[in-house]
Amino acid sequence: MEKQIIVAGDELARQQEYAARVRSLARRPQTFHIVTMGCQMNERDSETIAGMLSEMGLRPEKTREKADLILYNTCCVRENAENRALGNVIWLKELKRERPDILICVGGCMAQEEGMADRLKKQYPFIDLVFGTHNLHRLPEYLWRVLEERNPVVEVLRSDGVIAEGLPQQRASAFSAFVNIMYGCNNFCSYCIVPYVRGRERSREPQAVLDECKRLVDQGVQEITLLGQNVNSYRGGGGEFAELLRRVDELGVPRIRFMTSHPKDLSEELIAAYGELRHLMPNLHLPVQAGNDDILRAMNRRYTRERYLDLINRLRSVKPDIGLSTDIIVGFPGETLAQFEDTLSLVETVRFDSAFTFIYSKRAGTKAAQMPDDTPAQTKSERIQRLIALQADISREILSAQVGKRETVLVESVSARDEGWVGGKTPRGHMVNFPGGAELIGRLIRVEITSAGRNTLRGKRIMEE
Ligand code: SAH
Ligand code: SF4
Ligand code: F3S
Repeated sequence: MEKQIIVAGDELARQQEYAARVRSLARRPQTFHIVTMGCQMNERDSETIAGMLSEMGLRPEKTREKADLILYNTCCVRENAENRALGNVIWLKELKRERPDILICVGGCMAQEEGMADRLKKQYPFIDLVFGTHNLHRLPEYLWRVLEERNPVVEVLRSDGVIAEGLPQQRASAFSAFVNIMYGCNNFCSYCIVPYVRGRERSREPQAVLDECKRLVDQGVQEITLLGQNVNSYRGGGGEFAELLRRVDELGVPRIRFMTSHPKDLSEELIAAYGELRHLMPNLHLPVQAGNDDILRAMNRRYTRERYLDLINRLRSVKPDIGLSTDIIVGFPGETLAQFEDTLSLVETVRFDSAFTFIYSKRAGTKAAQMPDDTPAQTKSERIQRLIALQADISREILSAQVGKRETVLVESVSARDEGWVGGKTPRGHMVNFPGGAELIGRLIRVEITSAGRNTLRGKRIMEE
């Protein structure tokens, strides 16, 4: 077992000290704007960053161009994510020319990538601060140095990572919250850069998770999503994920979700939890990546197609109406047409509610980057189009089958397109739009589904006994 370093106590106090110093500076940025890329981990990290910046006396500013401090929380899981991040940063150079006082900060997974900090320093000297995923909690100290020394600060730690407890947080939503239960990943799927930029797996203590969840319940949060790259390998305090889930369920939050699950570690207990826990939503994101055993082996996924299908059957026998979603990579190095068609047939067999589909993207430093990849880009793009079309048909059929049902919707937002409409999700995770006003946001509302579109449902509010 790796040694786990928990940051709290003294180090936390030291950072609070820096935050107070920044706050008392006469010349300091007054407002901030965070651009978050990538997954829910980054969204949750951005909430922590917002919390720290608020402690330093800064206020959120909606318009990026107007903010005194602009922070990019980056992703590098695929090349286009990285290009988007870099493209944005270059654009900021212009802004900095107009407003030389603004501060530009880059954090997150791309900043943590091997060699990237140096590259940023050399190629983009106008960036004021670069920090990685393992030292996010030291933002107050870094910002203090940037302001005091008026020199760029570039600090990316190589350590496998720490767990920082007790950091401030400014949540993006009042009614739905992310709670980290673990950090990092040990799986080293051959295509994936995440283990290199997020470090080794480390689980929070169950009590720390439960305390955070309890506070959220007390604040009236309606939905908690537990987060980890692979929640199924959670081992906090020696306990397993299903056990933690059970204890969160007892806190009484109306809706519990979690992500992400790795099929190889999906336990019997977790499957059983779908039949037993009152607040666990009937929904599971279970990335399959491919439907062919040779490709799965080359990906180092450590399960077979048969084992995956067996898991789906067992989940459905416990919870017949469970909503399933997945991630699929098309065009992994060496993937043949027949192997790709195995993915199509798996999709047909499982009938996922939805699927996130990606063309394989080569990431430097990963195993797959060494594998010969001679499938033309054009072929990969044709394959993904076939997959997307197939999944679209299945999604539409599943949505159509919801018409006439009565569901509870957690209202998230007012519709951007239709005035007087609001939208939110059913327990299974389908988006429903129905007539209503902003006062419904954050509430659980009973709705009858009246029609199905391509990606969403429409409904009307109902009153029940
Ligand atoms: N920890 C999560 C996923 C994190 S990345 C899990 O294991 O499920 C989210 C998704 O991005 C992955 O499921 C995979 O489908 C996709 N992905 C990761 N690396 C990729 C790469 N190099 N090219 C294309 N897609 C990739
Ligand atoms: Fe990447 Fe695999 Fe870890 Fe998910 S489980 S983060 S895909 S290495
Ligand atoms: Fe991207 Fe990092 Fe998440 S690489 S997908 S933001 S863990």
